[in-house]
Amino acid sequence: MKTVSTKILLIAVPFLAISSLFSSCSNNEDGRPGYEFMPDMYRSPSLEIYSSNTFFKDSLNARQPVDGTMPRGFVAFDYDNTLEDYLLAGNELKNPFENSEENLEKGKKLYQMFCAHCHGKNGDGKGSITHPVYGAIPSYADDVMIRRTGGNMNTLADGNIYHGIYYGLNAMGPHNTQLNDTERWLITMYVKELQKGN
Ligand code: HEC
Repeated sequence: MKTVSTKILLIAVPFLAISSLFSSCSNNEDGRPGYEFMPDMYRSPSLEIYSSNTFFKDSLNARQPVDGTMPRGFVAFDYDNTLEDYLLAGNELKNPFENSEENLEKGKKLYQMFCAHCHGKNGDGKGSITHPVYGAIPSYADDVMIRRTGGNMNTLADGNIYHGIYYGLNAMGPHNTQLNDTERWLITMYVKELQKGN
């Protein structure tokens, strides 16, 4: 009489033998890959990054978001890239974040990542980038060179600094996409600290 375990063996042994014939293995002796049971699992039929897509007739590229939609956490900045709005921002805006050690530390970290290579670790304008275009970056603590406000670097207000980060100025590019609203304010807080020139 056959026991249960011999029954299992009778089924399992032929199954293993047959499946090993089909199994995929790229290290066959002849160098050819084995048979693929389900090619879709190895080679995904989904669209590849940057490939054209045939789903939409009007465009081969990615879809644009619906008009008027905005990303989660989006905060509008209602000042234009004009001297007038730059000065307005300086007069009207105050940093909404509390000036605490924790926030300053966060601002410092972001500053080191996004600004220090040009403005220098201590904000003295001597960053590691030595290209001539960035040769004359003013120190945040500078009290001589007249700026757009009529004052100096060390008197720029919260809103001036934020506006400067958002839109950039001449050789300094805008940082309105790579930083969010919170990050820009935290960096602004740290720049206010660097204006003291310690
Ligand atoms: C690619 C180099 C570069 C980077 C990166 C950069 N800056 Fe600047 N920044 C400059 C230059 C150059 C100026 C001087 C522009 C001028 O006066 O024509 C400047 C000017 C400024 C000013 C003065 C603006 C004004 O209104 O007078 C502030 C404030 C400032 N940067 C802050 C920052 C902060 C904060 C960051 C990081 C988020 C940053 N910058 C990143 C190059 C850079």
